[in-house]
Formats: sequence, C-alpha cells, structure tokens
Amino acid sequence: MLSKEQILELLQPLQEPQLGVSLTELQWVRDVMVKENHVALTIVTLENNLEETSALSDATRNLLSQHGVNDVHIRLRAASEHERESLNRGQAEHEDEQDEVLVKGHAAGLDGHELLSPESGVRFIAIASGKGGVGKSTVTVNLAAALARQGKRVGLIDADIYGFSVPDMMGIEEYPVVEDGIIQPVERFGVKVMSMGFFIRENNPVIWRGPMLGRMLRQFFTDVNWGELDYMLLDLPPGTGDVALDVHQMLPHSKEIIVTTPHATAAFVAARAGAMAIQTEHELLGVVENMAYYECSKCGEKDYVFGRGGGGNLAESLHTVLLAQIPLGSPDNHISEPDFSPSVYKAESRIGAIYDEVAQSIDAKF
Ligand SMILES: Nc1ncnc2c1ncn2[C@@H]1O[C@H](COP(=O)(O)OP(=O)(O)OP(=O)(O)O)[C@@H](O)[C@H]1O
Ligand SMILES: [Mg+2]
Repeated sequence: MLSKEQILELLQPLQEPQLGVSLTELQWVRDVMVKENHVALTIVTLENNLEETSALSDATRNLLSQHGVNDVHIRLRAASEHERESLNRGQAEHEDEQDEVLVKGHAAGLDGHELLSPESGVRFIAIASGKGGVGKSTVTVNLAAALARQGKRVGLIDADIYGFSVPDMMGIEEYPVVEDGIIQPVERFGVKVMSMGFFIRENNPVIWRGPMLGRMLRQFFTDVNWGELDYMLLDLPPGTGDVALDVHQMLPHSKEIIVTTPHATAAFVAARAGAMAIQTEHELLGVVENMAYYECSKCGEKDYVFGRGGGGNLAESLHTVLLAQIPLGSPDNHISEPDFSPSVYKAESRIGAIYDEVAQSIDAKF
C-alpha cells in the first residue's frame, strides 16, 4: 500500500492546465486518503473546460495505475477566490523562501502569545451551550468550513479537552506534525484544526484535572503555528465548567454563539451559558437553533419534532438575535469520497447554504 506522501510524489508530474505548474507543488492535490487499495483525493484547478478537467483526471488515474492503484476516486474542484489570490502571494513568498526558513514561527506567522492578545486582529468566536448533545461541535465545524469557503483564514480549536470530537466529525485522518519545534495544525476543508484528539491514542479517556486542562488549552494557542488568521473558532465543552471559564479569562475579547435545540428546557439551560457570556462581558453574536425541524424531502412540509420557539425565545431573553434555524439532516456524502466527513455539510447542500448565510451574517457583525 502506498502512503499519502508516495501518492503525492507519484502525482508530481501533473500540471495545472492553465498555469503549467505542478499541482502538487501548488498544493492543489488535497485531502489524499488511502484505505487499503482505495485512493481518494481532491484536485483544485483553475480550469473549467470539461475536456481539460477530464484529461486531468485521466492523467491522474494513469499515473496511479502505473503503480498498481486502480481504485481511485477523484474530486475536481474549481479554485476558490482565496486560492487564486494565494497564487499571487505564493509567487512572492517563493522569492523570499530563503529568508522565510530563518524566520519561521516568528515573522512568518503570529506566535501564540500574540494570537491571544486583542491586537492580533484575529476574530475569536466561542461556541457554547448549556447542555451536551445539542450540536455545538456540528455548528462549529460547519461555520468554520463556511467561513473558509468565503476565503477567510480560519483556525479551529477543539476546546472540549475531555470530549473532543472535531477530528472525527471533520473526517480527519492525519496527525499534526512538528516542524522546527512547533506544532503544525492539521488542515481540512480549508480550516486549521487543533484538538486533544490528535494526542490521545485509542480513544482512551483523558483524566486530567482542572489546572491541566487550562494549561493544555493555552498550549493550543502558544505552541501551534497558526500562521495568519482572520477567525479562530473554539468548540467549547457543554455547560459552564472550568474550560468555559478558562476561555472567558484567556480571551476576554472573544465573542460567543450559543447553540440550543428548539425544546423549551434545552433553551432554558442554554440561557445559563448565555448569562455567563454576558457576565464575563463576552459579546453574544447570537443564537443558533439546531435540529429546529424536520423537512419532508418529498412534500417540503416542516415538522417541528423537538418543539418550537426555543431558539427565538432564548435570543430574546439574551437580547440577541436568532442567527439560524438548522433543520435535521445528515451530510450527504460517502466514506469513499476524498472530502468525506460525518458532520460537514457540503456547500451545495441545503444545510450547507444555511451555514454560508450564517457565516456571512457573522462576518458582517465584526
Ligand atoms: N442538524 C442536525 N441534524 C441531525 N443530526 C445532528 C444535527 N446536529 C447535530 N447532529 C448530531 O447530533 C449529535 C450531537 O451533535 P454534536 O456532537 O455536534 O453536539 P455537541 O453539542 O457538540 O455535543 P457534546 O456536548 O457532546 O460536545 C451528533 O451525533 C451529530 O451528528
Ligand atoms: Mg461537542
């Protein structure tokens, strides 16, 4: 079985049709996943001519089949605005490559202490809830992916140290690497991710107590090479415990989103998280009501299976807005796809579009 690195090496000769530059050098061969004899990957390209793009995927298949890999799933994706722009930036960076090696971790990106300071310009958003299982992590990963789709540079810290779930939810199979003594976050769907899950083997429960949690969380800021970011999202553990307090103290300038379900009690409990945000003077960006309804795929009728009004009432009592009502539904994708993830809805899906709207309305609030 070939490794991801070997696959990338094999695909080195593939050229971006319009630029005539190696796609692997552009880092436009993405999300490479190898499972037994199955390889899945994404190719980003400027080309939208169907003939050219299918020639590109044929060439990919050819290269791989020469090395015995015949079961290949290729997803072609047009380069986003951001990726087009970074082409120009990349050019400039390339010329300075020699210098860049020397300053890595300093001038190349913010270091953690700067990241935590209000002057960093990074927009922090903590996603909180009073209760577990309402969809905080789902909202966090999807909002992060939606912001990244809009060309924002996004980081995500899975601050649920005990109950980390972000790597699995985003379908991340890699681990962070350490370069020049600093941890590189794992990138998925354009989002840089850090989670305790990367450091725990075999899903063993984490048994650290309060102070260590805070230290761990701080390290996620200070020992990770985040580079430059527009947004940093934090998936908080449920409730108003130690970690939530740590975040409030560490990031007094963070803003907050409260997630709830439409059920009255859930919203009542969520109000506590909201009250805590207000007490600690974290500005509330709004409430997301998740699992708001079930929409019949045939008749389009909405069924409010978990009750109705929780999100709206909560927003009102916290003097904030209801950012979105997200219906029940699973992402429509399959494990064999390179961008498979159990919890990230695709941009072209209905729920994906709702997250795009939330991302836009949030971006307008800063
Ligand atoms: N809109 C939705 N439709 C269907 N299932 C959903 C939806 N949102 C979340 N889920 C599912 O509900 C479960 C709980 O979601 P999630 O893990 O995001 O909640 P959480 O608030 O982060 O939970 P925890 O408190 O355990 O961290 C997951 O299995 C998730 O896939
Ligand atoms: Mg969670």
